[in-house]
This record gives sequence, structure tokens and C-alpha cells, in this order.
Amino acid sequence: MATYERLPPSGIKVIVVGAGFAGLSAAIECDRKGHSVILLEKVKNLKPLGDLITFAANAAGVFKKWENVVETLEPLCYKAPGISYFDWTGRFVTTQLWDNGKKFGEIVSGHRGEIHLEIMKHATDRGIDVRLGQNVTDYFETEDGAGVVCNGEKMKADAVIAAEGVKSPGRKIVLGYEDLPKPSGYAVYRAWYDSDVLAKNEMTKHLVINGDTHNGWIGRDKHFLATSIKNGKDFSWVLTHKDEADIDEDWQFPGKVEDVLKDLEGWDPLVHELVKATPADKLVDYKLVFRDPLPTFISKNARIVLIGDAAHPFLPTSIQGAAQAVEDGATIAACLDKSGKDNVTEGVRAYEAIRYKRVHKAQNMGVTTREQWHKADWDAIWKNPKSLHLKRDPWLLDFDPENHVYEVYDETVAKLRQDSTVPSKDGPLSKGFGPAVSETEVAV
Ligand SMILES: Cc1cc2nc3c(=O)[nH]c(=O)nc-3n(C[C@H](O)[C@H](O)[C@H](O)COP(=O)(O)OP(=O)(O)OC[C@H]3O[C@@H](n4cnc5c(N)ncnc54)[C@H](O)[C@@H]3O)c2cc1C
Ligand SMILES: *[C@@H]1O[C@H](CO)[C@@H](O)[C@H](O)[C@H]1NC(C)=O
Ligand SMILES: *[C@@H]1O[C@H](CO)[C@@H](O)[C@H](O)[C@H]1NC(C)=O
Repeated sequence: MATYERLPPSGIKVIVVGAGFAGLSAAIECDRKGHSVILLEKVKNLKPLGDLITFAANAAGVFKKWENVVETLEPLCYKAPGISYFDWTGRFVTTQLWDNGKKFGEIVSGHRGEIHLEIMKHATDRGIDVRLGQNVTDYFETEDGAGVVCNGEKMKADAVIAAEGVKSPGRKIVLGYEDLPKPSGYAVYRAWYDSDVLAKNEMTKHLVINGDTHNGWIGRDKHFLATSIKNGKDFSWVLTHKDEADIDEDWQFPGKVEDVLKDLEGWDPLVHELVKATPADKLVDYKLVFRDPLPTFISKNARIVLIGDAAHPFLPTSIQGAAQAVEDGATIAACLDKSGKDNVTEGVRAYEAIRYKRVHKAQNMGVTTREQWHKADWDAIWKNPKSLHLKRDPWLLDFDPENHVYEVYDETVAKLRQDSTVPSKDGPLSKGFGPAVSETEVAV
């Protein structure tokens, strides 16, 4: 029987709502800190849904602290040493290597559903009380605690962590109003399929028969990324493109191969082959919407806290949505360790203060990267091919969210105490934790 590293019991009871990567990370990190956790997930039978998801070094470092998790994920994950970029007609531009050619574990990237099930298994293996089929329909807070209404029953704890994703009902409770998304003018076609058919095609076989590869084709107002995973056995591609359709509440639609091909007229024939090889039931069309940064992540009494996509949905081009959700989980757990049971609300306030600027700065990179590619000045790129490279900022990637809490917690609460003597009606914005950007474009 495996042993799990865990601090002595803190006496803090936490309810986590939603077992996506945000909720699971919060639950596992709270367990590491000795808090007692109940994790409520509305889905009854978890299925391996989704396609490619990436956890950069800032989140992979958190996974490394979980006994045996990275080792279990390794065979499922992408191992290409870097990405090669082409222009839309297929002319090679440049190759960007990851982290000095790569050791596994610096980027954890693979099938969202497969990684999710492994991390879920880790949570249950370490004894966390994970309850499936639990639909949370309401939240409440009192002076000394907070709780949820779940399947018609009231449950109470010291704090509630709302991690229910982009359609979060908790967000409405925390904000006191409905925060509606706006269309962004972009959508993403996404596909994941078995690479057999590509291995038999002369034009595409080099992408799958010699292990994992990663390539990007960049054009005006659109880009196409193609990845092979599991030693070339699985294949994934995404096409981000303009889309004027009105968004619906239901934001994921089946995609049609012929629509994608029409969108890629004049593009590299190799890209056409990758699209044509997609089985009809493996292609989806996600609409991307805008959401402005929320004015706050925490409830009035600081007992309910939003984390992950519920607090800050991301554009896929930031490649940080899942990673920031993991950082959130590690941060709230460590803040509650520092605050102790007697000062849970201070821990929750510190969480918001510590996360607010960083998460919005990371969120904004989704727009920056898209513009860098979609509005590329090709004369300039041929002179300086590296200008297509993804930014690999140390502030973002060389970051351990748990250690960061222990470094800044005391000064953060000192500032919060000082600010609380100055009455403020506008929440965290007036407390100097204002957004790094005025408007952020995000995916739901
Ligand atoms: C089915 C699915 C597929 C996805 N596929 C991809 C992908 O291929 N690539 C990618 O980059 N990102 C994908 N994402 C998004 C990505 O997982 C998130 O952006 C990121 O990991 C942040 O996760 P989160 O935990 O905040 O939210 P989510 O991953 O959305 O998780 C929220 C969880 O809360 C649960 N929940 C919601 N409401 C309630 C409620 N009322 N009561 C109880 N539980 C509730 C949901 O069932 C879900 O499990 C997908 C998300 C989902 C849900
Ligand atoms: C959860 O509750 C909401 C609100 O009552 C309801 O609309 C939804 O259908 C429920 N979902 C599930 C999976 O039971
Ligand atoms: C809890 O925090 C408040 C201010 O936020 C502080 O005045 C008080 O001393 C703290 N209590 C404990 C037990 O640390």
C-alpha cells in the first residue's frame, strides 16, 4: 500500500464542487495540507472526454509532488522535442525546442480524459471522499462557515471551493449577478483520432511512424496545430479560425470535414490530408467567447471561493487554462494551511490577492499569441523566423504556486489588514489587486 505525504490534521473542513482539474487539484492539495475534504461531482460515470490538453511546467511541478502521478501519466503523454512552424502553404519557417530538448515531466500534454481519469484515481487512492452523481444547485454562507445544497440536501464546511467550470452556478452566487459571455468572433475545430490511416498515407506518414511530432501552420486569421502522441499512435489537430456565428448556451457542436476544408482553401495539401483523415464523429467545433475579468473570486463573507474556469476561463492559445486551474488548487490549499482554522476567511482573501493579477496576466497571453500568429507580418518573419515562437516566459513557467504562498502570505495579509481599515465598496479592484488587463478574451 502506497503512503502519501500529508501534514497533520488542520481541523479545516472543505467542500470542493466539481472534479475537473481545478477541483481535483484543490482536493489533493488540501489533503496534502491535512484539511478534510469532500469532493462533489455532478457526473455519475466519468468518461474520457475531450482531446489534447497541456499542463506546462508551472502545473507539471505540482503533479510531481503527487506520489507516482507523473510516472503513471508518462506513457499517455506527448514527447515531441519541440514544434516546427510552417506558413499556410507549407513552407518550413522554424523549429522551437522545449526546455533544452526536454526531460519528461516539464510539459505534461496528452488526452484530457485519460489524464483526468488517472488524477481522479490518485485522489481516490489517497483516500479523498470523492462523491459522483452530486449535483450542487445552491451555495450559502454564514458567519462561521459555508455550504452547498446538493441533491436536495444541505452540507456545511468551513469553506467551499467552487470549481464547476465555465458554466459555474457558483459564480452567480459570489458575484450577485449573472456574468454572460459575449461572442469573440473565433471558433476552434478540434479532432483526436487513431493515426493508422496517416501511417498508410505517403504524405502524412512521417508525422506518425517515427514517434511523436508537433507542427503548426500559420496563416492570416487562422492557425492549425497538429500533434502525434503515444509514440505516434494517436493524432490530434486544432484549427482556430474566424467565426461569426452567434453563440448558443451549448457551445460545442459536431464539426464537418467539408467545412474545415473550405476554411483551409489554398493551404498546404498535407494539412488537407490530416483533415480528410478525421472520422466524422471525432471532429468538434467549439465557439470561443469573451468574458471580462470578474471583479472578485470570493464571496462577501470570504467563505466561498471560485477557482479554475469558474473564476477565469482561458483561450486555448494561452496554453495555460488547465495549468492555472492547478495553480489555483495548490494556492487555496496552502493559504488555508497558513491561515489555520481560526482564520479561514483571511486565507480565502489572501488566495484572491495572490492569484488575481497573475491569472489575468496569463489569461491575456491567449490574445497575444493569437495576434502574434494571425496578424503576422510575413516579411518580418522570414527575416526573423524566431518571432513566431511561443513565448516561454520564466515568470509564468518557472513558478511553484505552493512555495509562492509561503513566500508572500505574511506580507499579503499584512496588506489586507491595512487595506481593510480603509473602507472600500468596490472589492479587490480598489485594493490594488486590479486586473493586469482591462478586457480579456476567454474560451468557454
Ligand atoms: C468534458 C470536457 C472536455 C474538455 N476538453 C478539453 C480539451 O480537450 N482541451 C482543453 O484544453 N481543455 C478541455 N476542457 C477544459 C479544461 O478541462 C478546463 O479548461 C481546465 O482544465 C480547467 O478546469 P476546471 O476544473 O476549472 O473546469 P472543468 O474541467 O470544466 O471541470 C468542472 C467540473 O465541475 C463539474 N460540475 C459542473 N457543475 C456542477 C455542479 N452544479 N455540481 C457538481 N459538479 C459540477 C463538471 O461536471 C466538471 O467535471 C474540457 C472540459 C470538459 C468539462
Ligand atoms: C442539476 O440541477 C440543475 C438545476 O436544478 C438542473 O437544471 C440540471 O439538469 C441538474 N443536472 C443533473 C445532471 O442532474
Ligand atoms: C485573524 O486575522 C485577523 C485579521 O484579518 C487578525 O486580526 C487576527 O489576529 C487573526 N487571528 C488569528 C488567530 O491569527
